Amino acid sequence: MIRLNNVSKIVRSGSEELTILHPLYLSIPVGQFVAVVGPSGSGKSTLLSLVAGLDYPTTGDIRLAGEYITLMKEDELARLRGAKVGFIFQSFHLIPSLTAYENILVPMEIRKVPKARERAQALLDEVGLHERGHHYPSQLSGGEQQRVAIARAFSNEPAILLADEPTGNLDSKNGAHIFDLLIKLNREHATTLLLVTHDHVLADQADRVISLNEGRIVEDRETRRAGEWESGRTAFCPPLSHSPTLPLSEEEEVA
Ligand SMILES: Nc1ncnc2c1ncn2[C@@H]1O[C@H](COP(=O)(O)OP(=O)(O)OP(=O)(O)O)[C@@H](O)[C@H]1O
Ligand SMILES: [Mg+2]
Repeated sequence: MIRLNNVSKIVRSGSEELTILHPLYLSIPVGQFVAVVGPSGSGKSTLLSLVAGLDYPTTGDIRLAGEYITLMKEDELARLRGAKVGFIFQSFHLIPSLTAYENILVPMEIRKVPKARERAQALLDEVGLHERGHHYPSQLSGGEQQRVAIARAFSNEPAILLADEPTGNLDSKNGAHIFDLLIKLNREHATTLLLVTHDHVLADQADRVISLNEGRIVEDRETRRAGEWESGRTAFCPPLSHSPTLPLSEEEEVA
């Protein structure tokens, strides 16, 4: 569960104040696949960075899996991120001097994940790169590099996966493939997926689409795909009873 309560982001440059995100309220149940759309500069990446705890909001609080990340110190936050959150950046962020396999393996070794070698190979297989583990990022196509980045983001089986335009640099075929992979992982692992995309056709495959404009949520709708939850998942969460753009009631707060 992700909850944002009265979250805003204001930055100061000199004497000027710029509101990047106006106060917003958002509640995302476990396992939901949410697409975030909106024009360039509308605040999508800012929203994702706040949810990832990579940036602090100016007002409000954010809860991930029941924990108030806005109250945490940097080391506590790093622990929570390592345990629960995966982040896929638009531009892969792979380490060029490590092979595909090592890019997945090394972060797990740092976290002392048991059986890290077997797991790294299994993840490579899962993203369809069985034969390419020994290749360096420069020897892989954009779509293949993005698949390595997805495998790495999945290496800690995150409860929450945040993806900022993961298909933005790819052609439509590769983009669709990455998207299918994210949907598969979301469904099989009941991972909560928050994905920024400019592609409305892809966004409509999510359970829910949130549209941002000038730092405000201007639309928040469930797609037809959302109905598939009941038949396809064990970790089904009922639809929200309140409008997610309104403050949460006391009762919902404690839930
Ligand atoms: N640290 C900062 N200082 C000043 N302005 C900032 C800062 N961070 C973001 N902004 C501004 O806030 C607005 C929202 O930025 P953000 O990166 O969240 O947009 P976005 O919706 O992700 O856009 P894009 O689709 O182009 O990636 C932009 O106008 C951006 O220039
Ligand atoms: Mg962005």
